[in-house]
Amino acid sequence: MTKSEDYGLGPASFPRGWFIVADSTELSVDKPQAVKLFGRDLALYRGESGNPVMLDAHCPHMGTHLTASDSTALVNSGQQIEGDSIRCPYHGWRFGPDGQCDDIPYFDGPCPKAAKIRSYPVKEVMGCVMVWFDPEGGEPLFDAPDLPEWNDPGWVQWKLNCLGELDVHPIEVLDNMADVAHLGPTHGAPCEYFENELRDHIVIQRQGGVLKQYGCLLQSTTWYTGPGLLLSKQKFGDQLIYELIANTPVEDGKVRVWHGALVRSANEVATEADIAKAREAQAGALQSFSSDFTVWKNKRPATQIMKVPTDGPFHKIRAWHQQFYCEADKVSELQAKHNGIYHVRGMETPDDDARSLDVGLFD
Ligand code: FES
Ligand SMILES: [Fe+2]
Repeated sequence: MTKSEDYGLGPASFPRGWFIVADSTELSVDKPQAVKLFGRDLALYRGESGNPVMLDAHCPHMGTHLTASDSTALVNSGQQIEGDSIRCPYHGWRFGPDGQCDDIPYFDGPCPKAAKIRSYPVKEVMGCVMVWFDPEGGEPLFDAPDLPEWNDPGWVQWKLNCLGELDVHPIEVLDNMADVAHLGPTHGAPCEYFENELRDHIVIQRQGGVLKQYGCLLQSTTWYTGPGLLLSKQKFGDQLIYELIANTPVEDGKVRVWHGALVRSANEVATEADIAKAREAQAGALQSFSSDFTVWKNKRPATQIMKVPTDGPFHKIRAWHQQFYCEADKVSELQAKHNGIYHVRGMETPDDDARSLDVGLFD
């Protein structure tokens, strides 16, 4: 695997940001999950209040994995989750959602203060369980994206698709944001205008071109909120969708990838027919994304890019990426250094109509 330090990223191996860790529909109170992400063993469960909780997996008492040892009597009795707390399957120590042990069933004295597990900030938005990961253990520096259209009955929500793991560093997935020249050969929609903007923890791509297969203009404003979550607003004829592409580091140099598409229906409240059409639109978006996925799956790492002047600004996207691997106190300086709008030689820039796609997206 090609690692963060091979791309000149660091000192952290894993980036800070919001990342998808599970599909909301697959996390229930009676089914805690053992998750391996960010090179760590993690315990993910849903408390009885409905809130998801993520803790480092190993109990400080004797190192038991809180959610992988799922055949003990305690777990089988259905009493592992109490409120939003979880009991260790081995001897029953109880940990709150903040990771602090607050009950040892066979000891009357106070629980040791050191009996504490790292707990992660969690949000549940748009059908995704997301956590804030920070290699330094800090609190969130920015919000997770949350589209208001998700709860609009005129829009059809995605069914999250987990595409599995890729032996690719996330920086190569994010290269796509600058990659003006792949849109024709890979997606069949050569670009007619293109622009990147770096705005603190957000990177934006505005582009448009005729989708050859249909002879119709496809315009998009695509943005990453941090290094793990891409949303892309796409207008194609009378169709309007938001595509989601998410990558979460599993190990240094390996990511898990998710995909979805939130689709506007023709009615104020989507009908069965609208839902069926939206599923088709999601499948179409997935098919297009699969072209990127297959390229990534089979390519060798590009720690250096042999760039020609009419390639997009890969170096800028990669420089933007560094802010997620550096110490928190250096983030603002890096952002200020790279913020700005970047164009590609010989390529048109978006007009007012193309820019109108952005309205309300990043404010
Ligand atoms: S190992 Fe967890 S309670 Fe003993
Ligand atoms: Fe692509």
